[in-house]
Amino acid sequence: MTVTSDADSGARRITGAVLGELGRPRPFRSSAPLVIGELELDAPGPDELLVRIEAAGVCHSDLSVVDGNRPRPVPMLLGHEAAGIVERVGTAASAAGFAAGDRIVTAFLPRCGACDGCRTDGVMPCTPGSAANAAGTLFGGAIRLRRDGVPVHHHLGVSGFATHAVVDRRSAVVVGRDIPADVAAVLGCAVLTGGGAVVNAGAARPGQDIIVVGLGGVGMAALITAISLEHGRVIGVDGVPAKLDRARELGASRALTPEAAAASGLRAPLVIEAAGHPRAFETAFALTAPGGRTVTVGLPSAAALARVSPLTITAEARTIVGSYLGSAVPSRDIPRYAELWRAGRLPVEALISSHISLDEVNHAMDTLADGGAIRQVIRF
Ligand SMILES: NC(=O)c1ccc[n+]([C@@H]2O[C@H](COP(=O)([O-])OP(=O)(O)OC[C@H]3O[C@@H](n4cnc5c(N)ncnc54)[C@H](O)[C@@H]3O)[C@@H](O)[C@H]2O)c1
Ligand SMILES: [Zn+2]
Ligand SMILES: [Zn+2]
Repeated sequence: MTVTSDADSGARRITGAVLGELGRPRPFRSSAPLVIGELELDAPGPDELLVRIEAAGVCHSDLSVVDGNRPRPVPMLLGHEAAGIVERVGTAASAAGFAAGDRIVTAFLPRCGACDGCRTDGVMPCTPGSAANAAGTLFGGAIRLRRDGVPVHHHLGVSGFATHAVVDRRSAVVVGRDIPADVAAVLGCAVLTGGGAVVNAGAARPGQDIIVVGLGGVGMAALITAISLEHGRVIGVDGVPAKLDRARELGASRALTPEAAAASGLRAPLVIEAAGHPRAFETAFALTAPGGRTVTVGLPSAAALARVSPLTITAEARTIVGSYLGSAVPSRDIPRYAELWRAGRLPVEALISSHISLDEVNHAMDTLADGGAIRQVIRF
């Protein structure tokens, strides 16, 4: 797509997918909650980068904004899992090591590296980063997007469903140009989250079996990360038969529906919930062995409640752990996943169920809601 530059302000015309209103009815291909059109993108500030987006994945967390389950300020340019090439670098971002021509992966929660949250080695989210995400701004509070003169919010500091983005340096991690753009994009959310649930929050240990409940992009990333560790058996659980077939193809020892898993008597010391539904959380809890750990990464609506037995937690010495951003430090962890991919141990491309164009993004939301996709990746 063409980009024109405004010589005075450094602002550019870009094309992106803007959500104007929450909760439009299904099917989204008819109600078209995401409007593809032109916007104005300001030049990057000192701490920021102008990035030409190459690829962006469609995650359930995008769908949760579209369907109103997790409200965000609108209008908002969606997309939080992306990769692209740096075209322009602010002075402070340059001093931090970013350069034009770098391929970067976006991280959907900026990390300042200095707050109480950042001092927990990834366990807690970054405090100012979370505040910026909630407000729909870049880290530091800027809004660089406008449509017809009206400010448009940034999604999780990224807004990757667009030809270009301005992101804060704390929302970007450089990867080698040998990492294909679509693979790089998926590292930013699905792999960081699913992989981190296993290795960070789950602290998976040799010999342990691992069960993953919910086999979308995030859960399937947890599954392939668990398989790459070669610890014990890895078992996938999902209600969609095609997801179970895919999990077996990728090397899962077993793949079961939630009902079959419950009837099997199977229990594991580490169980990851990656569905975002309270019933899936209950399934994950029930499949966790005495002394074991249930890691939950799903993000259902704030009103969703699950039933668990406090007696079981006490009597079986259980641990339930929540994990946001894979409990990760993206600048530390994304290069590790890239290295595993290079070594042929983490088949990230297997998470990509289709490549689509930006024009197909509403349709992609329907496909995701129907359970018909692992990761759909928009190519620019
Ligand atoms: N914690 C984080 O940092 C973080 C990051 C990204 C995504 N998420 C959340 O993780 C969840 C998964 O994201 P995704 O993009 O992989 O979603 P997805 O829609 O691609 O995958 C969800 C999967 O769960 C399955 N599922 C639904 N209900 C189930 C049940 N009761 N039992 C078993 N399986 C069930 C679906 O069939 C689907 O395969 C979402 O809630 C998303 O918002 C969290
Ligand atoms: Zn995501
Ligand atoms: Zn911080």
